[in-house]
Amino acid sequence: MSRTALVTGGTRGIGAAISMALKDAGYNVAANYASNDEAATKFTSDTGIAAYKWSVADYDGCAQGIASVEADLGPIEVLVNNAGITRDAMFHRMTREQWQAVIDTNLGGVFNMTHPIWPGMRARKFGRVINISSINGQKGQAGQSNYSAAKAGDLGITKALAQEGARVGITVNAICPGYIGTEMVLAIDEKVLNERIIPQIPVGRLGEPAEIARCVDRKSTRLNSSHVVISYAVFCLKKKNQQT
Ligand code: CAA
Repeated sequence: MSRTALVTGGTRGIGAAISMALKDAGYNVAANYASNDEAATKFTSDTGIAAYKWSVADYDGCAQGIASVEADLGPIEVLVNNAGITRDAMFHRMTREQWQAVIDTNLGGVFNMTHPIWPGMRARKFGRVINISSINGQKGQAGQSNYSAAKAGDLGITKALAQEGARVGITVNAICPGYIGTEMVLAIDEKVLNERIIPQIPVGRLGEPAEIARCVDRKSTRLNSSHVVISYAVFCLKKKNQQT
């Protein structure tokens, strides 16, 4: 029987590519989303993957959402914590709300989603948790003290949970994408993107969601639990005409 995978933020951008890659790999996939009903409806009609609406920043909402996915598709054995937001501002202009919103979603969301699913994974002695961090959690990014802090935190929880899960058949890994051509990245001011960000990418282009989704296939989910998968997409993307 197919395993069930849940992808948060799974109807757009990198998350949508991951949902589709997991479906292609034979999983029963559920895609969570927080707000964009129109995109979610289109995603479901295009892919046949069911979409479920709740905010990963809301612990009780996560518990209820997870229960409804499990009622429909069975126990969640693969969890991809992908949902994330940006509220970019230089630190001297950042508001408390901008700080908190990003911490609550991008870091709190990983706790809120993994905590209710973890006991079932432990009981079944099988689980795969993949956290989508970011290169900016490792190198930092001016204008993203909130996002960089949350994404660095995602690596901390990944490494701690990998140690806890190892004894009970659960692996926990992280992927750190670079700048990928999603709505989130394309929302950056064009001048900033073209003059400050793209010139720092050795291959001279943004990555593609499918390049990240490839890491979240059966191979990466089988890695030993103590591994943290770091895909420095900024540094290791191949040129378009290079073979993968
Ligand atoms: N390093 C150091 N200083 C910088 C800087 C940098 N990278 N970028 C800007 N500054 C300086 C500017 O030179 C300027 O200094 P002065 O006032 O002395 O001239 C000051 O900071 C303000 O810069 P801006 O004019 O750009 O400020 P702004 O308020 O108009 O915009 C910002 C600030 C919204 C943060 C904008 O700079 C921005 O969008 N930056 C890009 C942030 C970014 O990379 N976001 C990634 C989003 S995608 C994502 O997060 C996905 C992922 O995982 C990779």
